[in-house]
Amino acid sequence: MSDLFALSEEHRAIREAVRAVAENKIAPWAAEVDEDARFPREAADALLASDFHAPHVPEEYGGAGADALATVLVIEEVARVCVSSSLIPAVNKLGSLPVQIGGDEQIKATYLGRLARGEGGFSYCLSEPDAGSDAANQKTRAVRDGDDWVLNGVKRWITNAGESEYYTVLAQTDPEKRTKGITAFVVEKSDEGVSFGAPEKKLGIKGSPTREVYLDHVRIPGDRIIGEVGQGFALAMQTLDHTRVTIAAQAVGVAQGALDHALGYVQERRQFGKAIAEFQGIEFMLADMGMKIEAARQLTYAAAGRSERGDADLTFFGAAAKAFASDVAMQVTVDAVQLLGGYGYTRDYPVERMMRDAKITQIYEGTNQVQRVVMGRQLLAGVQS
Ligand code: CAA
Repeated sequence: MSDLFALSEEHRAIREAVRAVAENKIAPWAAEVDEDARFPREAADALLASDFHAPHVPEEYGGAGADALATVLVIEEVARVCVSSSLIPAVNKLGSLPVQIGGDEQIKATYLGRLARGEGGFSYCLSEPDAGSDAANQKTRAVRDGDDWVLNGVKRWITNAGESEYYTVLAQTDPEKRTKGITAFVVEKSDEGVSFGAPEKKLGIKGSPTREVYLDHVRIPGDRIIGEVGQGFALAMQTLDHTRVTIAAQAVGVAQGALDHALGYVQERRQFGKAIAEFQGIEFMLADMGMKIEAARQLTYAAAGRSERGDADLTFFGAAAKAFASDVAMQVTVDAVQLLGGYGYTRDYPVERMMRDAKITQIYEGTNQVQRVVMGRQLLAGVQS
């Protein structure tokens, strides 16, 4: 039998290891983290202790050196029990990937090393009040002053803002050049002039703080530029090609978590003298849920392979996996609530939390409408394999 579409032994071992951490150290706190809208400290500690907090960091910088598929498995398994906690490895990848892809050796050694050692998390500051889907419409300014740069502006919807020590910030360095006038920098939480807005009151992922980041005359040294001046937008987009795959992984994970609960419930719940699992209408729902999850998972793993190899069709696959898996996550988690009936609608069971958490995967790292723009452009350009 060909093992073409099977996980390698190594990937299976990683999945088993992270599943144990997720079930034993993260799941017990998931409901409380959501209820109290607090950062999942227990998950952060457990992920750090097992080297799953930023698994993508290459070994040469002190990281675990997980490939894109292994990173997907980590995020999927954590999201299966707690989506808020899965944002720790996911956003650490998103925030630091511009450094890994575009930075020089010095900035890579400094910041990837610190991330790997657990000295602080990494957030990604692209969005602004007027630059959401239109990411190029950056208003944050960075002005050169001698060897330094001075940053001013407001970043919005920043995941894990305030918790993270390090921030990749996109800023205009030459507004007339539009996308070619945007540059990426590393800003530290401790830099003078950095502050944060109040945490947003959200529908889901309540354990992951989403805040504005204010940059008020933040002076940073010139060696905090990631790559070259003017290359920031392309770097930001390239980063998202890779990390949309991690959002797909979150979506697959939360959908699987909801199906797991539904499967248990329908076999225990008895109505009309038998377990409701014995009704064909229920079986059909379960079948559709499982089928969609598996399709989303295969597309996500295929996209991870492209991410690892840096294939030319990654842009298409990253967008496709993210859009498809997040739509599946929404459908499956809504159906899980339906299968649990009135119980599913209460906080006594985790499926309503999963349904609320799933929704964000259709929105962040580019709405699913933006993903379709990206895919359409790739198809028209003849890039997709
Ligand atoms: N890789 C490399 N370069 C790319 C690229 C990619 N994937 N996509 C675009 N570029 C380059 C282009 O080649 C182009 O350069 P040239 O002019 O030399 O050709 C330049 O960037 C501009 O590209 P576009 O003309 O395509 O730019 P656009 O203004 O039309 O925008 C867009 C395209 C796809 C709509 C883009 O703005 C976009 O992706 N928007 C969504 C933003 C987004 O995903 N935000 C998420 C924020 S992060 C977040 O949510 C994380 C979180 O909290 C967890």
